[in-house]
Amino acid sequence: MHEHHLEAARDLLYKKAMVAFEGRSIGTVAAIPQVKHMYVEGHLQAIKPDCDLNYNEIFIRDNVPVALYCLLDGETDIVRNFLEICLQLQSQDIRTAGIFPTSFFVDQHRLVADYGQRAIGRVVSIDATLWVPILALAYVRKTGDWEWGRGAGVQEGLQRLLGLILQPSFREDPTLYVPDGAFMIDRPLDVWGSPLEVQVLLYGALMACSALLEAVHLSEAALQRACNLRRYIRKHYWLNSRIVQTLRRRPTEQYGDVVVNEYNIRTETIPHWLQTWLGEDGGFLIGNIRTGRPDFRFFTLGNCLAAIFDVISLAQQRSLFSLILKNHGDLVAEMPMRICHPPLDENDWQNKTGFDPKNRPWCYHNAGHWPCLLAYLTIAVLRHHPKFLDMRYSQVYLPMQELIRHGYLQQLKKLPAQKWPEYFDGPTGVWMGQESRIYQTWTIVGLLLLNQLLAGDPKHSNLLDLIPMASIKNRHLMRTRETLL
Ligand code: GLC
Repeated sequence: MHEHHLEAARDLLYKKAMVAFEGRSIGTVAAIPQVKHMYVEGHLQAIKPDCDLNYNEIFIRDNVPVALYCLLDGETDIVRNFLEICLQLQSQDIRTAGIFPTSFFVDQHRLVADYGQRAIGRVVSIDATLWVPILALAYVRKTGDWEWGRGAGVQEGLQRLLGLILQPSFREDPTLYVPDGAFMIDRPLDVWGSPLEVQVLLYGALMACSALLEAVHLSEAALQRACNLRRYIRKHYWLNSRIVQTLRRRPTEQYGDVVVNEYNIRTETIPHWLQTWLGEDGGFLIGNIRTGRPDFRFFTLGNCLAAIFDVISLAQQRSLFSLILKNHGDLVAEMPMRICHPPLDENDWQNKTGFDPKNRPWCYHNAGHWPCLLAYLTIAVLRHHPKFLDMRYSQVYLPMQELIRHGYLQQLKKLPAQKWPEYFDGPTGVWMGQESRIYQTWTIVGLLLLNQLLAGDPKHSNLLDLIPMASIKNRHLMRTRETLL
């Protein structure tokens, strides 16, 4: 019935958003530039495509759903081309060696990359860099092209990346410490320090590097860090009602080796909205852990990715989905899904974002609704086949499946009609975002991806699965034995 919308979306993706370089498709622009019409001296005239800001560039993070869709759609060469360009553009500068660009574009016959110097927040997008190995692993697993993965280009790129991550630093924690706006939320929103999304992507990147790297000592080092990081995230970010009650009664101001409240979290910092939000069964990973100032906001992408990468256990994933079901009025509402909850209020918006005009309460990154996020939740849920789940899990699985189907239909009804907006605003997400781009590529491809995931083979949702730690360790053992023989 809605086939024509999906067909139109495919055309937009492959014919309008896709960029070619030296005869190869290499990725998509963030939003398809629109020709505007204006009356000039009484005549209606077409004005040059609106290439304002940098939405006509190829963003690595915006190309994640594109790459996933292309893998499912049999267009695997596009993904390999995209990854090869990313590797070609990886910084080799002494101060930044190893980082991948936030975005790039074709200028005449050359590629120009932005490592953050031209971005609105003037910071490097750490998420973009961490996505590259994760996508490389997804590509290799889907196509079986391990030979490409073993090639010098990939191996050297991953080594450079690990050189950046595994170097000594002033901190002992396994997390990455980043400035405000270093990921999908690329404007100030009080997300500096150790924001969840970056930590979860770091875990995914370390696991992917470990699976792909040929050099056993590096692969082992990445695995060890991933192992510590997962333990750390589960210990410090996971929250449910029982944990809140423990937190509220812990001592503060302790010093020395045996400390129960390492981050000096005081009762007063624990917001009251959590009481009703968590309920009895709900749980989620909080937005950030910082001494004395944890961030208790819920961030959708970080939580979905934590489920997809199994950073959290199956029981925790069950609690996460219960929480989403319970709070669907906030997180889904009229347009799935809200990017974070709750918004920073007027006062915090002023003080912590510096009056950022786009990030007013309920807008844009500050609790706006982004249609592209629903695909990540879908992958997180559908990768578990109900047949292999215990009763307690299937109790949340079926209503979650229903929530996703309903969200898909909501999107199908609204997105093509409203010209594929980037985001929606307001407490229910019913209005198209005040400053929303239209024909935003990850909105278009998000819907296509959802359709593929819901209609196709259930195995499709294993696309971002990592290789389990035990299998990687076994491979290390075998390699070591081989060298001893
Ligand atoms: C905005 C978003 C960012 C996205 C970019 C291009 O800056 O905040 O996440 O990558 O637009 O779509």
